[in-house]
Amino acid sequence: MGLLIENAAQIVTCHTRGRKFKAGKYQSEIGLLKNASIYAENGKIKWLGKTLPANLKKLVIRKINAKGKCVLPGFIDSHTHLVFAGSRADEYSMRISGSTYEEIAKAGGGIASTVKAVRKASKKELKELALKRIINSVTFGVTTLEAKSGYGLNSDNELKMLEVINELNRELPVDIYATFLGAHAFPKDKTKTEYIDEILYEMIPKIAENDLATYIDAFCEKNYFTPAETIKIFRQGKKFGLVPKLHTNQFYSIGGIKAAVNSGALSVDHLEVMKPSDINILTGTGVIACVLPTVSYFLDIPYAPARKMIEKNIPVTIATDFNPGSAMSENLQLAMSMGVHLLKMNVEEVINSVTINAAAALGISHYTGSIEAGKQADMVIFDTPNYRDILYHFGINQADTVIKNGKIIYH
Ligand code: NIG
Ligand code: FE
Repeated sequence: MGLLIENAAQIVTCHTRGRKFKAGKYQSEIGLLKNASIYAENGKIKWLGKTLPANLKKLVIRKINAKGKCVLPGFIDSHTHLVFAGSRADEYSMRISGSTYEEIAKAGGGIASTVKAVRKASKKELKELALKRIINSVTFGVTTLEAKSGYGLNSDNELKMLEVINELNRELPVDIYATFLGAHAFPKDKTKTEYIDEILYEMIPKIAENDLATYIDAFCEKNYFTPAETIKIFRQGKKFGLVPKLHTNQFYSIGGIKAAVNSGALSVDHLEVMKPSDINILTGTGVIACVLPTVSYFLDIPYAPARKMIEKNIPVTIATDFNPGSAMSENLQLAMSMGVHLLKMNVEEVINSVTINAAAALGISHYTGSIEAGKQADMVIFDTPNYRDILYHFGINQADTVIKNGKIIYH
């Protein structure tokens, strides 16, 4: 018994036939079907093509007429910090008047101010706040998200954040993958050694035991975590089955790329400041470069060298990095527009970056991220006959219907 999406003007498949991601020239290959239909059953894509075979036709129980519209894989936001409390609007105004993100952090604002608010908030409050943000995200075509802890900075509060993410994942129709980011900053009430020991010997084992996260992340940056500390944390995380992803090269190049590559990270994220040697280290590794143009826009810092990385065959994904300090927007389509105009990626590269490559950045490209038989029926229908209009006609939202596991979750 299934769902038929009928007569779409265009279906953008982003298919890879089992390959994990699209890199180099291949990142421009979109996979385009015209005047075609998709049949999904039991949450999976079963068939796509021109004329639905008679044996499947009998099983259709719901039809969506996609005439004049285009269908894309559901978008994936592979880097967010969507669980947080409080507001940093004052800090935003300070930045507009000339203070930098780093200066504000040194003066006790920044991540520390969100930590205070998160520690005070109940799980229920955090969930209600996060829910609104997830709904915002879905309206822009997102069907899968990643979400990080990192505003607790002690065992109880880091676990509280991860529990919130896990409960939302269970209760909502979208998939939300959790990342443990205890190593986001150092808390004020402990020495660095004490805090790292808490991460290694208390938080990681508890998180693994309670199955609260898939990935482990750190902020490898001057004044935050060193490459050596990052490696130590990743090594312990991996012992418990957590998969590394890394915040690195946002302000300085201090060796984070090498630490991530040597730790078997799935992705390196940010990359606003990349030396040629950093790009060389990344080349040929298959580690996904996750670029976050809304951060550069919002903090007025350099943009990641996405073009150069694509030329070096490094697979690139774009994410929002939605968080209260450096990118206060859930709008993945806005980040995509910046991908075209500020990172100089072409439309096709950008679309692959938020579908198949974003899935690869989460290690899930074997079951989502493209429209192919056998994959999860995660799709978004845009109310326009030409996929290029999603970026060409910018600043508005043309997402019409969002489908997750074969079910309409937004219309
Ligand atoms: O990805 N750079 C580190 N962490 C976040 C920002 C966190 C915050 O300012 O609250 C980021 O940009
Ligand atoms: Fe981030």
